[in-house]
Amino acid sequence: MKVLTLICFLGLAFMSGCSKSNNEADPAVDIGGESRQKTDRQWWKEGVIYQIYPRSFKDTDGDGIGDLKGIIQELDYIKSLGVDMVWLNPIYSSPNDDNGYDIDDYRAIMKEFGTMEDFDAMLKGMHERGIKFVMDVVVNHSSDEHEWFRQSRSSRDNPYRDYYHWWPAEKGKPPYRWSYFDEKGEAWKYDAQTDAYYLHYFSQKQPDLNWENPKVRQEVYDIMKFWAEKGVDGFRLDAFQFVSKDTSFPALPAGYEKDVRNVIKYYGMGPNLHKYLREMYDEVLSKYDVFAVSEGAGSSFEDAHSLVDADRKELQMAYHFEGVDLAGYGGYKLADLKKSFTDWDASFAKKGWISIFLANHDQARMVSRFGNDSPEFRAPSGKMLNTFILSMRGTPYAYYGDELGMTNINFDSIDQYRDIAAINGYKKALADGEDMDLFMKKLNFLSRDNGRTPMQWDDSEHAGFTTGTPWLPVNGNHDLINVETENRDKSSCLNYFRKMVRLRKDNLVLVYGDYQLLLPDHKQIYAYTRKLAQEGMLVLLNFSSGNAVATLPKEISLGDVQINNYDQVRIDGTTINLEPYQAVIFALK
Ligand code: GLC
Repeated sequence: MKVLTLICFLGLAFMSGCSKSNNEADPAVDIGGESRQKTDRQWWKEGVIYQIYPRSFKDTDGDGIGDLKGIIQELDYIKSLGVDMVWLNPIYSSPNDDNGYDIDDYRAIMKEFGTMEDFDAMLKGMHERGIKFVMDVVVNHSSDEHEWFRQSRSSRDNPYRDYYHWWPAEKGKPPYRWSYFDEKGEAWKYDAQTDAYYLHYFSQKQPDLNWENPKVRQEVYDIMKFWAEKGVDGFRLDAFQFVSKDTSFPALPAGYEKDVRNVIKYYGMGPNLHKYLREMYDEVLSKYDVFAVSEGAGSSFEDAHSLVDADRKELQMAYHFEGVDLAGYGGYKLADLKKSFTDWDASFAKKGWISIFLANHDQARMVSRFGNDSPEFRAPSGKMLNTFILSMRGTPYAYYGDELGMTNINFDSIDQYRDIAAINGYKKALADGEDMDLFMKKLNFLSRDNGRTPMQWDDSEHAGFTTGTPWLPVNGNHDLINVETENRDKSSCLNYFRKMVRLRKDNLVLVYGDYQLLLPDHKQIYAYTRKLAQEGMLVLLNFSSGNAVATLPKEISLGDVQINNYDQVRIDGTTINLEPYQAVIFALK
């Protein structure tokens, strides 16, 4: 099913970043690890990123769409979480075919979100609170309403023609390319005006920019400089592994698109990608104190390293999609989750850096997919999953609402969905004669809209998100799951999240310490140690709804409990009895 394949891909992202200061050693610090040099210490490794989907965070003008003033209003809340960086999904002017990932002006703010003055005030407010800001940069494609594309499509000899990929019709039909969002699954769209096809890996309104054209690249660097001059601290480069293409567009094996890994293989890591990244580094990133992040890790550990290893001066951080891809409609196996995170950690133990996440705007809610969103287990499993992402090696990404344990909304009818991936995926499945009952069940569980419902601030009609009609309904469970209620409850998911962020920030061992998997074959428990010089921690996570027993290796000597999502933990010598979804971190003696 294409839409679900899409969701899988989109969940899998790759982050990286570089800045002049970031790539330089901080001689004042020594993290003392055996496997790493002291020069490895970096602020972007030690920080926790909070991702906000601006459309859904807080609306201040009653149009039902979140806005920048709403984020400004909640800066103290964000600060109270203890996070260090905020990544906002795109806030540029956009016709919103894909909620801002289709940009028609890279130097203007989307009118629903506010003005450039609001942006400046928001950035200032973050900086005053010591929070850094990461801007989403969407330059694999623009909107078809961008002036570049209007010009480009107007005639074959327009100076902007080569800003995009065109295939003249007299050459016949172009070799098939699959599109993520197209209702027919076709990435080449015929345009009668110039009797040619243009390429769009995403929707028809998201034509792919031609990075082989040096003018395009210069435009992008100028845009990045514009925002860097404004003071942004980082860039997330959307779908960036796709920018370099073999522009002869050779035929691909029939049916390649049926396996998402093939799409990444054939579209990703194109021939000039490294050249462009080096150029971007030289032109922009090396000139500012910025952190740049990019989506897309290629198809192997080697690809990932080739992008992020510090000596390459390209990008700095990888986020792999393998973890989020594991949890499909049929659930996932804990053994696979352990293997994926353990293998990635091993590959990056000595060099490079990855990010750790179980959710973002392209995914359904973490607690519904990886935990258990039943009333009985939602809170403990939500806390357990946050313990996981905040105790692994790598930079953790927390998605708005996951600090509260927000859950899937589970729409039943296609009319309820707003996401282009769901709507066009539905049309395609219908045309292909798929089992629509099954399709809807999968969508209900995995759709991106599950993760985009409005932030739950209080128990009022629209959860304090808006006084108008929200663009996407608020989850009915906001009477119980909301900031106001959870703020008052010492044992809430929210207060647990704050405590866990604090624990990570107070203990460099949780950032840099070596990771070692314990009890690899245990069916319920994910257990690992983190060790840095003399310090050590043991993390025990019960991923099941049953009680679970961990028998620890004899050489483990337990110190104090650092955090626990239950009031107690039952220990009997080297045997530990965990409650359903219990998460405990011990210091090691
Ligand atoms: C990235 C974004 C996703 C968007 C797509 C097209 O994968 O994360 O939300 O739809 O690119 O821009």
